[in-house]
Amino acid sequence: MTAHRVLNGSDEVIEFGELVARDCPAPAPRWNGFPRYNFIGGHNDPAAVPVEALAEAAARVIRAEGAALATYNAGAGPLGNLRLRRAVALKLARQRGIEGTADDVLITSGSLQGLDLVNAMLLEPGDTVLMEQLTYSGAIDRVRARGVRVEGVPVDEDGLSVADLEARLERMAGSGVRPKYIYTIPTIQNPTGTVMSVARRRALLAASERFGVPIFEDECYADLLWEGEWPAALRGMPGGAQVVHIGSFSKSVAPALRLGYVSAEPAVLGRLVALKSDGGTAALEQMILADFLGSRFDAHVAELKERLRHKLGGLVEALDESFGTAARLWVPKGGIFLWLTLPEEVDTAALATAAAAEGIAFNVGSAWATDETVARHSLRLCFALPPAADLREGVRRLAAVCQRETGIPRTSGNERFDGDARR
Ligand SMILES: Cc1ncc(COP(=O)(O)O)c(C=O)c1O
Repeated sequence: MTAHRVLNGSDEVIEFGELVARDCPAPAPRWNGFPRYNFIGGHNDPAAVPVEALAEAAARVIRAEGAALATYNAGAGPLGNLRLRRAVALKLARQRGIEGTADDVLITSGSLQGLDLVNAMLLEPGDTVLMEQLTYSGAIDRVRARGVRVEGVPVDEDGLSVADLEARLERMAGSGVRPKYIYTIPTIQNPTGTVMSVARRRALLAASERFGVPIFEDECYADLLWEGEWPAALRGMPGGAQVVHIGSFSKSVAPALRLGYVSAEPAVLGRLVALKSDGGTAALEQMILADFLGSRFDAHVAELKERLRHKLGGLVEALDESFGTAARLWVPKGGIFLWLTLPEEVDTAALATAAAAEGIAFNVGSAWATDETVARHSLRLCFALPPAADLREGVRRLAAVCQRETGIPRTSGNERFDGDARR
């Protein structure tokens, strides 16, 4: 078949090879379903999806507002469903300290669209952004795909190290580099599960102002905090006008809903709306969520957190039993995943390959790091999706694979690993 063959019959296809744009990524591998023990990704607990409440909300809104689906954006304009934006504005004011109205909120197709829009607004090849050294792989990959340099700043149990950040900003200013933004996940950090202290939040806002670098705050998991203080969002604190804030209903309701939001100054939202060329975020989902937010959301989140906390307890127990002191756990204060570090003998990328052959999947640490060498011995386990029994069995099997491949956990003397376990 030649490269120029034209489609003119049922058994003839165009050879796309030579036509594909140079910056088009390689084809995605075919999806073969979930592995048996799936600790990957940001899925939620199927038993926690509020099916009945969503069904009732759907029936109500379709009857009341269904005719509006005849128009793009269901007649609500490009910012999204008004009732939903009002509910998000109220939630942000009450829970995150962010004052504003429905007009300060843009509804997006998941917070990933928020990430894409902000990147499209600010980033050009050759730019630099700052991020926590351990951070969301989707944020790192998106920035790098735009030819932008990512600089990682250390993160500890109080979140991003602002002292390190300031030193970095100072050095960069000295060489004439002004990063486009500081991306942070301050409230239940991904992957470490840490919550940035209030003192650090203040210092971060001050540094952002001093160096003229905006903050890009990602609060994907903030609803799921169940332990300790719940500090205001950076955007909700004095100086918050220099913060672009994104949030999501993926973790608090369901990821397949694909609903998130951006809260930012009007000038920023105007730019993002100009870039949002998708014909509008799914309007029916917005109507349903708006109804659900007004009725069952708070009670649902309380139940979900209890369920997740219980699952985390089971996971930690299973890890203790199977890995003992060989694993350093960053036990989170909320959320859906746990980050852990194994002794240096364990390269988690190699372990992932061996584990996959036995139906066990986890996120490899290096994908969650701005510098691959930082997290070669770490991995992330999402505990929301697997049933409690699978969490236990999956961990037991993972430890067996790890033992066979690396000798870790040792049959005795695991105390050799002297990481400062956060328990
Ligand atoms: C930190 C962070 N931000 C954004 C997202 C994207 O979430 P969604 O597009 O489903 O809202 C995720 C998903 O796991 C995440 O972990």
